[in-house]
Amino acid sequence: MARLRKSQKFFSTYQSGPQPWPAPSAANYFSVEPCDLFGNAAPLEVEIGAGKGDFILQRARQTPQRNFLAVELAGSVFQWLSIRIARSGLNNLKAIRADARPVVNLMLPAASVRAFHIYFPDPWPKSRHSRHRLFTPALIAGLARCLEPGGQVFAATDVDWYFEYIGALFAQSGFQATGEPAEGAQRSGFGRRFASEGKPIHGGCFRLGRPLTGVNHDSPLAAADA
Ligand SMILES: C[S@@+](CC[C@H](N)C(=O)[O-])C[C@H]1O[C@@H](n2cnc3c(N)ncnc32)[C@H](O)[C@@H]1O
Repeated sequence: MARLRKSQKFFSTYQSGPQPWPAPSAANYFSVEPCDLFGNAAPLEVEIGAGKGDFILQRARQTPQRNFLAVELAGSVFQWLSIRIARSGLNNLKAIRADARPVVNLMLPAASVRAFHIYFPDPWPKSRHSRHRLFTPALIAGLARCLEPGGQVFAATDVDWYFEYIGALFAQSGFQATGEPAEGAQRSGFGRRFASEGKPIHGGCFRLGRPLTGVNHDSPLAAADA
């Protein structure tokens, strides 16, 4: 509650800076058009459940030749995220407050995303809550719809059985694990916290169809930049 009050105060005093989220209009209410949003057609990476944006802010700063979209559902978290993006001054990073499921199933254009990053989605371990889990066959179908040919999904969780479940869902939908680590997971807010607590992080990279040859397994994000 204290965190919510703090973020609302912060958000309400931050009215004069540039806004990193798209202005609402009839045209973009049900769609996200990356070229309109960024004013160019650079390759797009999307982080789902970006939290306060530790990973995507760093990645967008280090990769100016690409565009980045942070999708976050929780209102108070989104406020922190959008203010941090506005303060960063980065033109290649935008945020939308939305449930990622309709974003990938409906709102983004087909074959428009070079890479997805999904780090530490809530596992909802109890079976009676499993309907809340982000990863479902429908989400994977949405990711597949949005990915460019050869596009990648980087995913990580601290929960071993959830990673197995995610891997099985990808396999059922025609994705293959490439063997690359989800390097970005080490740089997200939760990833840094889990690493400092010595908790294992289970992650990987998935592509549709045959894995590409010649991938640099030491630096998957560097390979993704090529
Ligand atoms: C455990 S946090 C991880 C945040 C960040 N990825 C990190 O590693 O620090 C999960 C985040 O996913 C967001 N989230 C959960 N379901 C979502 C959905 N359907 N669409 C978008 N974001 C979602 C939550 O609000 C939360 O901020």
